[in-house]
Amino acid sequence: MKIALTGANSSVGTNLLAQAASQPALSFIAGVRSPSALEALPKSEQIEGRCISYSDTAALATSLTGADCVVHLAGILIEGKQTKYRDANVDATRAVVDAAKAIDAKHFVFISVVGADAASPNAYFRSKGEAEAIVAASGLSATIIRTPILLGPGTAGASALVAAAKNPKAKALGGGHYRMRPLDIDDLNSAIFNACEKQTPGCANYELVGPEAIAYCDLITKTARMIDPHTTLTVGSIPIGFTKLMAGITSTLRGGGFTPTVIDVITQDEVVEHNAHAELGVTLTPLNNTLEKILEH
Ligand SMILES: NC(=O)c1ccc[n+]([C@@H]2O[C@H](COP(=O)([O-])OP(=O)(O)OC[C@H]3O[C@@H](n4cnc5c(N)ncnc54)[C@H](OP(=O)(O)O)[C@@H]3O)[C@@H](O)[C@H]2O)c1
Repeated sequence: MKIALTGANSSVGTNLLAQAASQPALSFIAGVRSPSALEALPKSEQIEGRCISYSDTAALATSLTGADCVVHLAGILIEGKQTKYRDANVDATRAVVDAAKAIDAKHFVFISVVGADAASPNAYFRSKGEAEAIVAASGLSATIIRTPILLGPGTAGASALVAAAKNPKAKALGGGHYRMRPLDIDDLNSAIFNACEKQTPGCANYELVGPEAIAYCDLITKTARMIDPHTTLTVGSIPIGFTKLMAGITSTLRGGGFTPTVIDVITQDEVVEHNAHAELGVTLTPLNNTLEKILEH
């Protein structure tokens, strides 16, 4: 089976492609937006890198030609001057869905986020909800996987966590009392591979989260203790209201970056009604093992 990935240079894409050798029956079209990203892709007979553009559906379809399954990973949490939620999360999804239909893809996998909602007052959650609606209305056989914070080599969540755990004066927004369900990125990889193989008809929307709910401050101290069992680290507090005010000013001046929207996303409790690990055929990695893996890395 051939799988086409968009955003193949994302942290999820990079981790997924690192599993290619353990999936000898699979080959990949790895779609990226720039020659430098193309150059940085892992070299393997199973991986064919292609430069793709989301602005021309016909050209995008040509780029994805040959794929049985399309896995749409491209998407952003942090807006930049040139990249807004509308283009990166909504319009790009529409383009990839149209391209997948044009090439008669047998299955479509979309990585969304816990909290996605087309009616959300939060612009990030709204954009992911709108993207889900595009996938659901496409008529494609599709699997939408809503994920929480992802922990694995190169994920933004893992980098921030390890940096905080190594900082004796670590601070978190509001003291880090928001609760997370961190998911091992290898578990997401398994879910994606299984969804591509199963190709369930219709569009199914699943929430897939890690096995443990934990407050972010406790996650930091747990990680710090794994680095140094004698640590005396306690997590200080950064006031959320003031930080949002400052983020609102600086992000307006800079045209993106750390916005009040991002702060609301980060500090929201990750709550799910049903963890679909069984439906997605995933055995969840215990949090301790995930933390060991990211510390080894
Ligand atoms: N990481 C997490 O904790 C997490 C949690 C929940 C959901 N997710 C979702 O999982 C997916 C992968 O996340 P990630 O953290 O691995 O991503 P990432 O490392 O931040 O990479 C973002 C990807 O999106 C591409 N991109 C940026 N702007 C774009 C645009 N305007 N049009 C098309 N592509 C654009 C980037 O390409 P360039 O390099 O060319 O800019 C890159 O391939 C995303 O859809 C994200 O929303 C991630």
